[in-house]
Parts: sequence; structure tokens; C-alpha cells
Amino acid sequence: MSLPHLRLGVNIAHVATVRNARGGTHPDPVRAAMAAEAAGADGITAHLREDRRHIRDADMYAIKQAITVPLNFEMAATDEMIDIALDVKPNAACIVPERREEVTTEGGLAVAGRESELEPYFARIRHAGIRLSLFIEPSEAEIRAAAAVGADIIELHTGRYCHDESGRTAELERIIKAAELAASLGVECHGGHGLDFATVGAIAAIPQMHELNIGHFLMGEAMFSGMDKAIAEMRRLMNEVRPS
Ligand code: PXP
Repeated sequence: MSLPHLRLGVNIAHVATVRNARGGTHPDPVRAAMAAEAAGADGITAHLREDRRHIRDADMYAIKQAITVPLNFEMAATDEMIDIALDVKPNAACIVPERREEVTTEGGLAVAGRESELEPYFARIRHAGIRLSLFIEPSEAEIRAAAAVGADIIELHTGRYCHDESGRTAELERIIKAAELAASLGVECHGGHGLDFATVGAIAAIPQMHELNIGHFLMGEAMFSGMDKAIAEMRRLMNEVRPS
């Protein structure tokens, strides 16, 4: 059985964080998105946070215009964000939980038990022809809830796997089971958060994974080796376990 091509989605939001530190226009996240595409990214992810701490509205429109690979628009489930997403028309909207005080997206979206609250937001996305992706923990309840609300994609939170070395084996097992369950329910499985050269292999080896979204490590690595080399090395490590 041949495995699906494992796509590499590159999150360029951190470039905007550096730009905003000086209030100017450099480094430009749009240029980063174009460079990532040129270096082999299969998709670009950008997160428009409620507080606009990195990507801004105008960046999102400009990135969509500048790239030819699919745009994955990460956002909270709010009317404001969905209005913008419907206007930008990305390939996918990835719904994440968002708290202003967090440094990064700390946990998965709680879907189970909140279906009736969230469904109106999800319906707006799906009716606009945008793929609905839900960033969730690798738990059976969340995967079943995501499938029941009609998610096209679940993105499994790999942060615990990456950061908790002592619990890594158990967490990998959870992610493997979660990916199998998603596939059995007909939901496309993605993964992301905290992945680096050391952790990507085990996640890329999961046969049901279709896409990995990687940002912080890749942008940091690009400072040392350049975008081309950082993305090429990530791609090589993915191909090592998933020859296409
Ligand atoms: N996927 C989602 C849904 C995220 O929120 C993030 C972080 O913005 C990522 C993937 C990428 O995580 P990292 O920057 O740790 O690679």
C-alpha cells in the first residue's frame, strides 16, 4: 500500500514577530512565505491572532496573493476571524484555542461538549468552501467530536510529544492511535507544534499523517543556515521515513 505524500506546511508567523519588534517592515513575512515555497514548502500556515502580535490582517491578504501553494489560515473561532477568513479565502481554516496571555497555542481546541457552541462558526467556514481543520489533542473523545461536527482535517497537537521527554513514548502511542482513529472516521490527519529535526521522524513515520505544520524551529534554523537549507533538511528527514 502506498502512503499519501506527506506535505510540509511552513508556519512563517515568527518572521512577523521579529518584524514587529522594531515596528518596521523588515523582515517581511510575505517574503518568508515566498522563500519557503521556493524552498519546497507544500503549504504556508499563518496565524492571525486576536491581539495581532505577529501576523496582521494585511499580511494574510498579501501572503494569499503571493503564494501558489495552499494557505492554512490559523485562527480562533470568533466572528471577526471568520469574517476575515471568508474574505481571504484560504485553502483551510485551522481553528485553535486562543488566550491572550499564552506565549503560543498551548493546548488543543476543546470540541467535545462544546459542539453546539462551535458548530455555527464551523458551518460558516464549510459553507464558504474552506476546508475545516481543528487543532486538537490526540484523544479519542476529541477526534470523534471533530468527525461528528464535520471537520475535514484534524491537526494533532504534537507539543507534549516534543517537549516532555519522559512521557514521549506514551505520547507517541496516543498520537499513533489518534491518527488511526481519524483515518477510520474519514478525517484527514495532520500534526504540528514543537517539531524539530530530532522529533519529526517518528511523527512523519505515522502512515495516516498527511501534513506536518512546522514554524518556530524552522524559522530559527533559517537564521543560521537559510530558509532553503532548513526546509531541505526537514524535507530530507521526512522523506527518510516516508519515501515518496
Ligand atoms: N500548528 C498549530 C495549530 C500551531 O498553533 C502552531 C504554532 O503556531 C504550529 C502548528 C507550529 O508550531 P511550531 O511553531 O512549534 O512549529
